[in-house]
Parts: sequence; structure tokens; C-alpha cells
Amino acid sequence: MADTDSIPETKEFHLGIPQTAEPFPLKGCHHLDWGMKNRLSHIFSPKSGRTVMLAVDHGYFMGPTSGLERIDVTINPLLGYADTLMCTRGVLRSITPPTFNKGVVLRASGGPSILKELSDENIAVSIEDALRLNAAAVAVQVFIGGEFETRSIHNMTRLVDEGNRYGVPVLGVTAVGKQLVRDAKYMRLATRMCAELGAAYVKTYFVSEGFETVTAGCPVPIVIAGGKKMPEAEALTMAFQAVDQGAAGVDMGRNIFQSEAPIAMIQAVRKVVHEHMPPNEAYEYYRSLKAK
Ligand code: R5P
Repeated sequence: MADTDSIPETKEFHLGIPQTAEPFPLKGCHHLDWGMKNRLSHIFSPKSGRTVMLAVDHGYFMGPTSGLERIDVTINPLLGYADTLMCTRGVLRSITPPTFNKGVVLRASGGPSILKELSDENIAVSIEDALRLNAAAVAVQVFIGGEFETRSIHNMTRLVDEGNRYGVPVLGVTAVGKQLVRDAKYMRLATRMCAELGAAYVKTYFVSEGFETVTAGCPVPIVIAGGKKMPEAEALTMAFQAVDQGAAGVDMGRNIFQSEAPIAMIQAVRKVVHEHMPPNEAYEYYRSLKAK
């Protein structure tokens, strides 16, 4: 039993100081529950309100993508520089060190490979397993305009219901089929639908014209996927333009792990996302790190 003799009698209730409520830094997330906000804070930096998610989930439909053949060799050394890792539960359990203590965004939909119709996905992870893996969020692909559009939306809304029960945010990932035009009009439709139907945040692609209308029309945070590998200077420019026009960060894969110098690249992306470093400076920063 605790020794009560030494408990001091004097108490200080700071009567003149009103209790403060720290504003939550993420757009549209103020009314979420504590657990949901706490999980989002393992993805987005509470300081900048932004994130550099390292996306390595490509194998769930593409197999051993270039740069991801040996995730233990090429990706684990990058973990210290990412705010969040986006991966499948297979890679998490088999390769990722459990000492990684930042947010994990778990790929929770899947089914077809690149050999088939990609929009034919189902939910691929139960919420119980996501909780068991201590996931900060679950990610589900939504194929607006795709053949299995309605099913993909139902995949997302089911995960939103289950996630809401346990305080797990859902990332709605907008996948654009080859036959669809990747423009601001499409991105506005897809991102807004994800948000309206309950996604806590949405991943989409950057478009060079009108991206600010995509972020403005989406009531929750947007992160951009990196897309196919491009020269480092271009990828840094795209990341800068995206955050400058309202994105809350990037979910970047190939433009980091297929870079000539992935550790230098992810650090340069961090400078752009968290410090709003102009792309030409960030590219010089990348080059200086690469030269070391
Ligand atoms: C697709 O495989 C996943 O949703 C990726 O996580 C997403 O496309 C981001 O990766 P990247 O920057 O390589 O496009």
C-alpha cells in the first residue's frame, strides 16, 4: 500500500488559467474521436500537419517491383526517414522490424494482379488483424468510373464502419483506370466521393492544372502518390506544387526507392513537404547528400 504520510496538503489548481484545447492540425478531422486523432498523429507530423508516407505496397498486385525485390535490403534502411510506412501485412510481418515505431498504413484491399481487371478488388484484411498489427490506418483502393466501382466503394464504406468502431482511420486511395482521363475534374469527383463516404484522408494523383480545386473541394486531407519514376528534380517539383496547392503530404514509392540515391531522395522530399523548401534548393540538397 502506498505510503500516504508524505502526500503534501497544499494543492495548486491554477484557478486563473482556463483549460486549453490544442487545435488539431488536420483539416476536417476536428470532430474525430481521440483514438482516431492519435492514430492520425502517427501518420501526420503534429508540427507541420504533413506527412511523408513511404509506399512499398506495390507487390500486392505487381509482385517484386523494381526496387522492392528485397525490402529488407532496400527499404528497411529508409524507415528512419519516413513518417509512415504504407505496406501489406505480409511485408510487415515477414520483413519489417517491430521496433519501427512510427505509423503503419496497412494495405487492406486486394485481389487481382496486373494480369487481370484491377478494379475487381475485395477487402483483404480484417479490422481485428489491423488492430493486432497496431496499424495507424487502413488503405483501400477506390475505382471511380471502373468496372467494379460500386464494390470498391462498398469495400471502403465497410472498412469505414469497422474502423469507426475501433478508432482506425481509413485512407481512400483513388485508382485511375487506364481508360479514364487523369484531370482535375476526375480527381475532384473521386476524392470528394471518398471523403463524403467516410475516408479520414484521401490519396490521389497530382494534376498540373487545377490541383488546388481538388484539395479545396475535398473536406479532409489529401496526399499524393508519386507515380512512375521520373527524374529527381521533377519529382521534387511535383511534391512542392502539391503541398503548395493544399496537399498534406505525399505517399511516395517509386520516386524514392527507384531513385539513384533513395536515402538522399527521401530526405529531400522531407525538406519540401515539412519545410516547404523550394524544389531547386531541395534538388541541390539531394545532390549534396548523394555526393557524400
Ligand atoms: C500502388 O501500388 C499503391 O497505392 C502505391 O502505394 C501508390 O501508387 C504510391 O506509390 P508510387 O509513388 O510508386 O505511385
